[in-house]
Amino acid sequence: GRAFLVAIDGPAGAGKSTVSRLVAERLGFTLVDTGAIYRTVALAASRAGIAFDDDDGLGRLLESLPLELRQVQGGGQAVLLGGEDVSKEIRTPAISLGASAVSARPVVRSGLLELQRRLARSAEAGAVLEGRDIGTVVFPDADAKFFLTASAEARARRRYDELVAKGEKVGFDEVLADQEKRDRSDMERPIAPLRPADDAVRIDSTSMSKDEVVDTIVAEVRRRL
Ligand code: C5P
Repeated sequence: GRAFLVAIDGPAGAGKSTVSRLVAERLGFTLVDTGAIYRTVALAASRAGIAFDDDDGLGRLLESLPLELRQVQGGGQAVLLGGEDVSKEIRTPAISLGASAVSARPVVRSGLLELQRRLARSAEAGAVLEGRDIGTVVFPDADAKFFLTASAEARARRRYDELVAKGEKVGFDEVLADQEKRDRSDMERPIAPLRPADDAVRIDSTSMSKDEVVDTIVAEVRRRL
């Protein structure tokens, strides 16, 4: 049969990345981090000197984007651009904003639709897709959908701790401001705005541990397997 598809959507910093990685690991499913794909488009554009609002340039870039996802031993996913592992480079604050900018361009969203569908469908047992519009646009017929949120403060705090742990020099206020900017642009864009699918299970993780969130999702998926 076809791969069992789990959609995990939500705003920046809700803990989607860690939770999705752990859920995929527990279920033995392939992880597809779609944010990493948008980030890689932003990185490739920036390297090629293509502006984030240059639809023609972005369209040409997408026609032959040498992007691959590779599952990492022990869970997680590496992103390769022309064979080069760019997993770290796509996580800087500048590329975060770039990803949000390119993701608002229809040419980019439609250009990446098939890629995301192909990656998920080629999974063996199942796939965990992490993003913003998986349950609403990419796979409206996903087998299990989750919408993960947390308060803006809690989300910015987590992102800040993550960046500091990686040795990035950032301030909390800057992280919160960048997050608000991205949230606004993700929710207000005309195509595929960030919103929960009607049939998504909503999880507010503000006062939950990541293990509690993972347990909740895994239990719900097992019920439907
Ligand atoms: O999840 P992550 O923070 O890595 O995503 C980076 C950016 O890519 C988001 O701010 C959002 O603008 C965009 N994105 C999107 N649709 C997705 C995944 C990410 O628009 N499915």
